[in-house]
Amino acid sequence: MSLAKRIQFLFFLSVAKFICSGRIRNPNIRNELQLFPFLFNISFIKETTQNYDHFRVFLKETDQKGLGVFSSRRIPANRTVMYYRLKIFENTYQRVGDGKYSLVVMKRFNNAYVIDDNKVADLYEGSNSQPIARIPFWAYIANEPDVTESPNCVLVLVTIKDWFNVGELLLLKLASIKDIEPGQEITW
Ligand SMILES: *[C@@H]1O[C@H](CO)[C@@H](O)[C@H](O)[C@H]1NC(C)=O
Ligand SMILES: *[C@@H]1O[C@H](CO)[C@@H](O)[C@H](O)[C@H]1NC(C)=O
Repeated sequence: MSLAKRIQFLFFLSVAKFICSGRIRNPNIRNELQLFPFLFNISFIKETTQNYDHFRVFLKETDQKGLGVFSSRRIPANRTVMYYRLKIFENTYQRVGDGKYSLVVMKRFNNAYVIDDNKVADLYEGSNSQPIARIPFWAYIANEPDVTESPNCVLVLVTIKDWFNVGELLLLKLASIKDIEPGQEITW
């Protein structure tokens, strides 16, 4: 990559990261458990996911937060921990679960990346699928940190394009930003 391109790319990632960190809110809740029950059913995911026991993370239900993702072994900083796959919809699309899974979509405009107001990326039935190299697609399950904690992961765009169409998929990853000890919750 040329230096100019690299700088552009880094800039894009920082903008995207900034924007991804603000989760969109919407008052009309469509319940994710009713819409996509299998995306939140631990026993179903365990049964149907290849190599579940060989991942660095596992699913667990707690009284405080409900379903969450925890580390099963030490994860060093700067590793891909999970993937996040969303589908792109018209912005009028009624967000799933009060918008807690949805992200904005970026487009290239006048040599800069800006928010595409006509679109939104949201959870869909294919958000979880078979892992790639033992990295599962569970970022939608990962919780925010408790008020006293700071997140141990950040969301990073994987699919980078100048323009996305409705119906296309958006791939992101949760990358560790510090060493994560076994048993700790994965948060972002
Ligand atoms: C979760 O999935 C299992 C199959 O793995 C099924 O037996 C069970 O009924 C499901 N639970 C719910 C609440 O859908
Ligand atoms: C993070 O990992 C990537 C790819 O493995 C590597 O290119 C990069 O230098 C690493 N960054 C840091 C800050 O260690």
